[in-house]
Amino acid sequence: MQAQPCSRRETLALRRRLIGSSCKLFFPEDPVKIVRAKGQYIYDEHGREYLDCINNVSHVGHCHPDVVKAAHEQNQLLNTNSRYLHDNLVDYAKRLSKTLPEKLCTFYFLNSGSEANDLALRLARQYTKHEDIIVLDHAYHGHLTSLIDISPYKFRNLEGQKEWVHVVCTYCSLYTSTISVNLLSTTSVALLIIRHCSLVQAPLPDTYRGIYREDHKDSVLAYANEVKKIIEQAQKRGRKIAAFFIESLPSVGGQIIPPEGYFQMIAEHVHKAGGVFVADEIQVGFGRVGKCFWAFQLQGEDFVPDIVTMGKPMGNGHPIACVATTKEIAEAFADTGVEYFNTFGGNPVSCAIGLAVLDVIEKEHLQAHATQVGNFLMELLNQQKVKHPIIGDVRGVGLFIGVDLIKDQEKRIPATEEAEYLITRLKRDYILLSTDGPGRNVLKFKPPLCFTMDNAKLVVDKMDEILTDMEREKTCEPVGKHH
Ligand SMILES: Cc1ncc(COP(=O)(O)O)c(C=O)c1O
Repeated sequence: MQAQPCSRRETLALRRRLIGSSCKLFFPEDPVKIVRAKGQYIYDEHGREYLDCINNVSHVGHCHPDVVKAAHEQNQLLNTNSRYLHDNLVDYAKRLSKTLPEKLCTFYFLNSGSEANDLALRLARQYTKHEDIIVLDHAYHGHLTSLIDISPYKFRNLEGQKEWVHVVCTYCSLYTSTISVNLLSTTSVALLIIRHCSLVQAPLPDTYRGIYREDHKDSVLAYANEVKKIIEQAQKRGRKIAAFFIESLPSVGGQIIPPEGYFQMIAEHVHKAGGVFVADEIQVGFGRVGKCFWAFQLQGEDFVPDIVTMGKPMGNGHPIACVATTKEIAEAFADTGVEYFNTFGGNPVSCAIGLAVLDVIEKEHLQAHATQVGNFLMELLNQQKVKHPIIGDVRGVGLFIGVDLIKDQEKRIPATEEAEYLITRLKRDYILLSTDGPGRNVLKFKPPLCFTMDNAKLVVDKMDEILTDMEREKTCEPVGKHH
């Protein structure tokens, strides 16, 4: 017999009692209880419709019928591990290989982005026989122990940094009076130097609020040189680089678009040091950026990573992930003689779902759609930027867009409280948006790819209304752009 559905209040009380309190809710003061979803809409227990601007996992739309059907049909036939021959596994690998550069022709299937990055770590270390990892400041690569260690976004918040972690702040002058330690360490570009173990950290290639900005004569070279310096410093201490990990578009870093050519320069330095380049496409892959299938391809056709990790959008909500790499790296991994077995990875149901997602992306021309709607949304947001001084920067590609809110034009101090207030007001108007970035001041748009022009117009109109109210409350009259 099915239990009676709980009221929202009862569900919340049960959750507080039964679920670990470190599992956070969106809008903790007034969380939304949801019961179903379709396309880019989510419905609460009263049938109220919310526009979803953030769920990049439901990539081709919540509960897409083709994906649901593929799962159901395969579930009725068979689901088991990958130690038997089955066509879905190889068909899926073949389809994925068509989206990737030829060199990336070996695949491992897993269940989550964290598993994919953990395997990437093992592959890199086994292939290079080196240990050290370089990551970007404020990066996030997953929740496993191995990945928290390479995710400054997380380990910065952990009390008592490990004794083998040494933080060297090279630029401490920005915003020191107004920001938290967390912010300070990012905006001031801390370089983490780990003496006895394996991680070094490079500044975010953020040309809006990073150390080299839009007015720098060659920010690409300058940011790449930071990585080169880190490699040289590590080598002086006898350390050896196994890999450079980067999210192809750093998202928790604040929806950053790395300048073109940056990856190529870094890959050259990393390869010279005997390491490999890992592109984390777990959030941003599968056509979200519109003009390319993979976000690393925005860097240019001449750039090919050594390892690509995939997850979230891959199964449209079903847990499936993948690592693609070269024959040489895969062979070095196999040379250990240790089997790689992952009970659920690459099972026939997951692969049927993965194939259905690829079919929908193609059939519904979702890449072209992401470009068209994304460009329109950016245009509307840029119009708001002219009107509202709180909008410091609008950046993005396809349906991966960030709006950087600032307290002042000159210092670009993150408007953290204002961003929080804005998303809370939007939620009251049934629009789900969230914030990211070291200062939690960057509004992030990464909706299901079926998001429409009308959806874009609705959100931006609401934002305009709320920002106008905020300005009125502050100054009692509409505020124009200050220059
Ligand atoms: C860039 C990136 N890498 C890895 C992960 C970890 O993926 P998962 O939560 O599926 O383990 C995430 C999750 O947020 C992510 O954003």
